[in-house]
Amino acid sequence: MHNVVLIEGDGIGPEISRAVQQILKAAGAPINWIPARAGMGAYRELGNPLPDETIELIDKYKVALKGPLETPVGGGFRSINVALRQRFELFSNIRPAKSLPGIHSPFTHVDMVIFRENTQGMYIGQERWVGDDEKHAESIAVVTREASEKIIHAAFQYARKHNFKKVAVVHKANILKLTTGLFLNIGREIAPQYPDIEFRDVIVDNMAMQMVMRPEQFDVVVTTNLFGDILSDLASGLVGGLGLTGSANIGEKHAMFEAVHGSAPDIAGQKKANPSALLFSSLMMLDYLGENEISAKIHQAVISTLKDNLDACTPDIGGKGDTFTYADAVCLALK
Ligand code: NAI
Ligand code: MG
Repeated sequence: MHNVVLIEGDGIGPEISRAVQQILKAAGAPINWIPARAGMGAYRELGNPLPDETIELIDKYKVALKGPLETPVGGGFRSINVALRQRFELFSNIRPAKSLPGIHSPFTHVDMVIFRENTQGMYIGQERWVGDDEKHAESIAVVTREASEKIIHAAFQYARKHNFKKVAVVHKANILKLTTGLFLNIGREIAPQYPDIEFRDVIVDNMAMQMVMRPEQFDVVVTTNLFGDILSDLASGLVGGLGLTGSANIGEKHAMFEAVHGSAPDIAGQKKANPSALLFSSLMMLDYLGENEISAKIHQAVISTLKDNLDACTPDIGGKGDTFTYADAVCLALK
């Protein structure tokens, strides 16, 4: 049995978590769920969006599956997602986007994995007002050699392990010469250590266009925090939307798995949410825990459900069902 901390999260979080738990149980995944609280729900009920108890549980059990957490826009508390990634030094955010059978998309050959540096860049929360009339704001981005080396090595090693041929570093070193320039230079330094992997660099604005015109040219992509956040939503869009892409946040000692999407307040509580994204995240978790066979079995059941039983799936991918008819269909396909 593996103990896994489960944070259901806000918005659609509880619905998709329930569906994922149902599917993992049906597949016989040996998981003992340890419930924990975080996010806007925890803030409203407990007065704290990230209770100490939750931190302690993740620290103790090392592995967490997390639903989306709502973060107030503008003022309010800092992102709990960012806080958790920093607290447990989950430096690699791994976000695969792969074309799936049965899913309507103009792109059919996307198979890319975005490695997003997860602890620094523009997301360190170092912002301030200049003067006291709120007319001038500043933000600081941090890029360090240590963190950049870690994420870039992780990307190359992943490419090797998963038989990808190419790694691209995405940057804006023509303008942000020191911060993303450092990241690019470290990519150039490290690339020769992986002579079996083809290396290139792409400037982020061109990258956005290339991904929409010819996404099949990319295998593993490694980039700084903000660019990785934006490009991974774009990559999700290429393969059928945010309902379909999972992610892993991996550090030296801890790992947290979550969907790429947020709490989707527009559809929360309506059983419209696609649980695939959190499910794919949980499959990355099963692989991390060494339960590769069960993970592959569930993946196969999802593929056959999308191919042969799309009607049972959620509306975002053209289905006529809901979160739980979809979960039932995957459980049926598991048999
Ligand atoms: P969002 O990802 O929640 O939603 C964007 C669009 O995608 C919406 O139309 C939504 O209905 C749709 N969508 C998302 N997940 C879906 C699913 N599983 N099935 C079907 N449709 C789905 O992004 P938004 O609206 O910008 O953010 C909402 C809240 O989520 C904000 O408070 C934000 O801070 C938070 N957020 C949290 C994240 C996390 O916990 N890792 C990541 C991104 C946003
Ligand atoms: Mg995002």
